[in-house]
Amino acid sequence: MTGTDFTQGWVNGWIITIVLINLVGCLWLLWWTRKRPEDHIAEGESMGHSFDGIEELNNPLPHWWLNLFYFTIAFAFIYLTLYPGWGDAKGMLGWTSHGQWGTEVEKANNRYDRIFAEYAGVPVAELAKNPEAVKIGQRLFGNNCALCHGSDARGNTGYPNLTDADWLYGGTPEKIMETVTGGRNAMMPALGAALGGEQGIKDVAAYVLSLSGRQGAGDATAGKAKFDMMCAACHGPDGKGNQMLGSANLTDNIWLYGGTEVAITETIVNGRQGKMPAFKDTLGEQKIHVLAAYVYSLSN
Ligand code: HEC
Ligand code: HEC
Repeated sequence: MTGTDFTQGWVNGWIITIVLINLVGCLWLLWWTRKRPEDHIAEGESMGHSFDGIEELNNPLPHWWLNLFYFTIAFAFIYLTLYPGWGDAKGMLGWTSHGQWGTEVEKANNRYDRIFAEYAGVPVAELAKNPEAVKIGQRLFGNNCALCHGSDARGNTGYPNLTDADWLYGGTPEKIMETVTGGRNAMMPALGAALGGEQGIKDVAAYVLSLSGRQGAGDATAGKAKFDMMCAACHGPDGKGNQMLGSANLTDNIWLYGGTEVAITETIVNGRQGKMPAFKDTLGEQKIHVLAAYVYSLSN
């Protein structure tokens, strides 16, 4: 929305009128209070009211104070004329908030572009030991990633924790760069129907639970046979997952979507499609490089 979008037509005139009424009103008030009917009372004499032992004397406002008041009114007129103050008039200086924002962004970019270019030459693992770079990466993370991964990068249900050693796609500098640059689209199909009804689902869930040393209501041995057939292609015969697919390791008791029997059953029945957006276009390679150093520093 630009300034002119909401100061259209009558709104525009309305704003100018209100501003004028205020300024002219101030002038009138000053003029009016100078010519008062009490002029017949000599300066410094009592006005005839007192309250609580305090008596009102006829003391005019000091000249310096009055002049200051006139000056502020004149200043308001000049200021409103130089800057876009009268409705949607442009102002004589041609100042716009967009323009100012643009210059400030350009200034900051000039400053940071140099820093990012310098960091681009340092390998991620090494950059992760540079406290200044990590701080910049942390700020980028706060602005671009914290919304999903949390400001402490510990994630939440559906959003992986980036501070531990457990990685869906791999935690090497190259893999982190790859994830942030191109994004990731996980594809865990809904397999409820393929497992032969409720009992089949229960059995597979029991087998998945057994991989992290727990027990479910179903028969884990029967579940294993189904797992080998339906799940092992993506999660591996041992259930340790495949980082090429981002198929979670099911044996470590670290869960993206929750490790209860209920949550696991829901995953199996409905599938899961976690989406990590690509930042190639919004951040660019150099900033992603610094971000990767920050992410890498969290677990190394
Ligand atoms: C086509 C490949 C594929 C198949 C087949 C597949 N999965 Fe998955 N699975 C994935 C992917 C990829 C993820 C990660 C989903 C995400 O991150 O959104 C996943 C996630 C999961 C999770 C969630 C893990 C967590 O940390 O919360 C469970 C549980 C799971 N799968 C169990 C199974 C079971 C049981 C089967 C067989 C009935 C199965 N999967 C079949 C690819 C597959
Ligand atoms: C809109 C939400 C969202 C935003 C914003 C987001 N992510 Fe993600 N990110 C995800 C999800 C969801 C996954 C898991 C994808 C999956 O289930 O396979 C993920 C996965 C990752 C992974 C892979 C973790 C692993 O275990 O391999 C990394 C690294 C990562 N994100 C870093 C970042 C960084 C850095 C940013 C900021 C530039 C960011 N993410 C912004 C949602 C988000």
